[in-house]
Amino acid sequence: MMEIEFVRSRFIKHFDGKTGNVYASPGRINLIGEHTDYNGGFVFPGAVDKGIMAEIRANGTEDTVMAYAIDLKDRVDFKLSDPNGPRASWARYIYGIALEMTKLGVPVKGFNIAFAGDVPLGAGMSSSAAMESCIAFGLNDIFGDNQVSQWDMVLAGQATEHNYCGVNCGIMDQFASVFGKAGCLMRLDCRSREFQYFPFKPDGYRLVLLDSVVKHQLAGSPYNDRRNSCENVVKHIQAKHPDCKFETLRDCTWEQLDEVRSEVGEEDYKRAKFVLGEKDRVLAVCDALNDGDYEKVGEMMYQTHEGLSKDYEVSCEELDFLNQIAKDNGVTGSRIMGGGFGGCTINLVRNDLYKQFIADAKKRFNEKYGHEPKVYDVVIGDGSRKVC
Ligand code: GLA
Repeated sequence: MMEIEFVRSRFIKHFDGKTGNVYASPGRINLIGEHTDYNGGFVFPGAVDKGIMAEIRANGTEDTVMAYAIDLKDRVDFKLSDPNGPRASWARYIYGIALEMTKLGVPVKGFNIAFAGDVPLGAGMSSSAAMESCIAFGLNDIFGDNQVSQWDMVLAGQATEHNYCGVNCGIMDQFASVFGKAGCLMRLDCRSREFQYFPFKPDGYRLVLLDSVVKHQLAGSPYNDRRNSCENVVKHIQAKHPDCKFETLRDCTWEQLDEVRSEVGEEDYKRAKFVLGEKDRVLAVCDALNDGDYEKVGEMMYQTHEGLSKDYEVSCEELDFLNQIAKDNGVTGSRIMGGGFGGCTINLVRNDLYKQFIADAKKRFNEKYGHEPKVYDVVIGDGSRKVC
């Protein structure tokens, strides 16, 4: 995580010299369970030790927000009462979450905010969820007497993506950013919202992310189309079984999917096939983790990659290449992480293979694409918090 002094010094410099409160929220990894959250399935994320840190202070105005993005050296001022809100995409997260927190009963007034991040942008590690939860946390503390629950802040972050940023995402990223706990992954049932912490100390293995540096951006990407395909399949299954209630693909069986295959077409069928398989894989991974069987965990990760690449079609050439390099090096498990369309692979690698794998990945990726992938060793950290 970043240094408080870094954020504080900019906050003081860019506003009126006064200090506010500092909040931090992490990005996330996800061991397995991709594109399952909005299908009512399971996910297996954990918060990381990188994220967003923001200093926030009520500025005494009714509804003027003065915002400074330290890393971008960009300043945007806007009014919460402006129905259009700011144009800059980073400022829309602030505008959106402030309005969503207001809807939850927090009497948000004007504030100053400066923020910075060390979670890589566009790497599929949820820098945007980190931003939403950080600000939700801060506004809840400063204006709301901490009356809004953690779950409501998760949902406010998700609503921000839906209502102001054009991404119909699920709840995984905001959940991980709010509820994360150092050293633990979390298995979340996205339908019931029940979750368990799983201490994750894989003896002899480690997790490492390889960032293709292909910028992943979900707004305007076919992310929403994937969700629509899944919902379309559910609609068709529902029509065939009017006596049962089907909310998401979570409620559907393989047989029911096969029944509508010709109606929904091959593309939507493949999307749903991936989701049903992924639901089973997360549960298999839970059992394998309980048995300490990391080879099994890895096998499931490779299957997920295959499905995301061939059936869900959210991979890209660079990510498939990184996955192949992992296979060639005998890495236990490797797959695209997060929404896809660029970003990182997550790799479960034996300690004794780590060095050789990283060296080979850098070399071969560089030969093919003219630059090395970025390497992030995963440290599982805490969720959203007040720093001072
Ligand atoms: C993005 C979304 C999440 C989830 C993942 C894919 O990160 O924000 O809600 O759908 O993609 O698992």
